[in-house]
Amino acid sequence: MKLILMAALAMAAEEAAVADDGATAPGPADGIRAEAAAFLDVYNSMYRSLATVSSEANWRASTDVKPLNEGLRTGADQAWMAFVGAPAVVAKARALLDRADALDPLQVRQLRQVLFEAGDAPGDRPDLVARRVAAESALASVQDGFVYCVDRAADGSCPEPLTAVDLDARMAGERDLDRRLAIWRAGKEEGRAIKPGLVELRDLRNEVARAMGYSSFFALQVAPYGMTADEMMAMLDGFVADMQPVYAPLHRWTARRLAERYGQPVPEEGIPAHWFDNRWAQEWGGLVPSMDLDALFADRGAERIVRDAEAFYVDLGFEPLPASFWEKSDLYPAPADGDRRKNTHASAWHVDLDRDVRVLMNARSDADTWFTAHHELGHVYYFLSYSRPEVPMVLRRGANRAFHEGIGEFAAMLAGRPAYLRERGLPVPRRQDRTAALLDEALVQTVAFLPFSVAVSRFEYELYEKDLPPDRWQSRWWEIVGELQGVVPPTPERAADPALCDACTKTHLVDDPAAYYDYTIATVLKYQLYQHVADTWLRRGSPRLADHPEIGTWLRGILEKGGTEDWRVVLREATGSDLTTRPMVEYFRPLVRWLDRHGGGE
Ligand code: ASP
Ligand code: SER
Ligand code: ZN
Repeated sequence: MKLILMAALAMAAEEAAVADDGATAPGPADGIRAEAAAFLDVYNSMYRSLATVSSEANWRASTDVKPLNEGLRTGADQAWMAFVGAPAVVAKARALLDRADALDPLQVRQLRQVLFEAGDAPGDRPDLVARRVAAESALASVQDGFVYCVDRAADGSCPEPLTAVDLDARMAGERDLDRRLAIWRAGKEEGRAIKPGLVELRDLRNEVARAMGYSSFFALQVAPYGMTADEMMAMLDGFVADMQPVYAPLHRWTARRLAERYGQPVPEEGIPAHWFDNRWAQEWGGLVPSMDLDALFADRGAERIVRDAEAFYVDLGFEPLPASFWEKSDLYPAPADGDRRKNTHASAWHVDLDRDVRVLMNARSDADTWFTAHHELGHVYYFLSYSRPEVPMVLRRGANRAFHEGIGEFAAMLAGRPAYLRERGLPVPRRQDRTAALLDEALVQTVAFLPFSVAVSRFEYELYEKDLPPDRWQSRWWEIVGELQGVVPPTPERAADPALCDACTKTHLVDDPAAYYDYTIATVLKYQLYQHVADTWLRRGSPRLADHPEIGTWLRGILEKGGTEDWRVVLREATGSDLTTRPMVEYFRPLVRWLDRHGGGE
């Protein structure tokens, strides 16, 4: 740990030597470009080395939760922060950007990214950064090591410890509302454990971001989109408003279906949270019996599903995954009764910013695994596509983070079409009810998810930007959820208990903070990409993907750029328009007509 830190500091000193080389002295444009190139060369090579060390340590800590690995992660992340936030680095990047007119556009983009990276790690406040890194690492371990318990023994012990995967499986089959409530509550116990650490982290994250001149940690995270925190929230509210004509009838239909299922009156004030199978009501699966996709995958092994997802991308003309992917990934759940704990939320990793790509997931034989595998491999193929000499290390990232999320979402959408599933040998019935499929997509993938995703962002916006007092976290969360999702806590008292923190159970608040709008934007984006592909290729000629190599070429064109161009330009070039909900609203128009006739009306 010490060694890594010393190495980082030695290299940072070397950095400073470069920085002292007359950054402010006026000179010919060639000179300043050469100076920027020299600085960026050193920066990019150190960036890569330290990112690799940090990713490797984070990978170990997330796939084998124990104090030793937490310590190694903390050390590696400290080295990382010492580098990206080094005052000499920041000063040099700022000085060079003052002469941006004389630089290459690609240099300007890199320098801006250098400053964004530093936003997280004010080098003149090393003790603050150290406290923050340690708090991040410790809270991640609380989360990843958490064990759920539905039925505690009288002495408080837990005869049957459950992972998140087990907990969700129990909920899915349960029809008894009292049992459902017990399972739901067990899931939310995690929030009680997370809250104190998150209160501390909220303050540390804000302090760090404010030391670097941002209004809050939320504003820092939004900055790479080229927007302020308020602009982001206004855009998200606009998406919710655009989708309201679809959401409102879908919500009414769902309330009626669930009331019928549980033999309850139709709720007037919002649907109780424990009526949904998903712990946050972020997707409303299991409501369209003819769309029981799990049955489709029952005979497919989990590894085969991941192989299928690889085949999807290979069909589009991408390379097969490197052998190391299969050796190093961690694809299956760790048993609750074993010794090893791992993070239970899927993620994709670009460990060395080159060919070492990995996925952490909990693959099973079900539909969710099918979608998640396509989603995660979307990240992986993004990583592989921009790992080219032309793309500097610091720009080996998506056009923005939402693009990174959106590619896999888009792929999963193409791979979820009945014709495609049949191509892959899955037993999809010949006669498919198109409305059922559209309804299921609205419930599971899109329409139900959108307001939830905005609820998470609004909560985090208030947490960071408005310094929401901790005793308001629980009540405010349920106000937001009530307003945006039309979902209420199982009992009203729950919202009033400040020791609870139901929002804190959402893993992203801990390990991907103030960035959940990435998924909202990715959702909007995927319909925009889909409409372009459908209109340009699939509606003409063959509906088979493999018959349209142009689709793969077009997609690779987006991915290979990485972060070298402004995302708005990339989007306009790829689809001919700015970010818009129009394709999504149009896509669901037939569903709105159907809902009006089938119980979604007033
Ligand atoms: N990282 C993904 C999500 O948070 C994983 C998932 O969908 O399970 O988007
Ligand atoms: N993957 C994200 C989540 O699980 C968005 O769907 O919350
Ligand atoms: Zn993702």
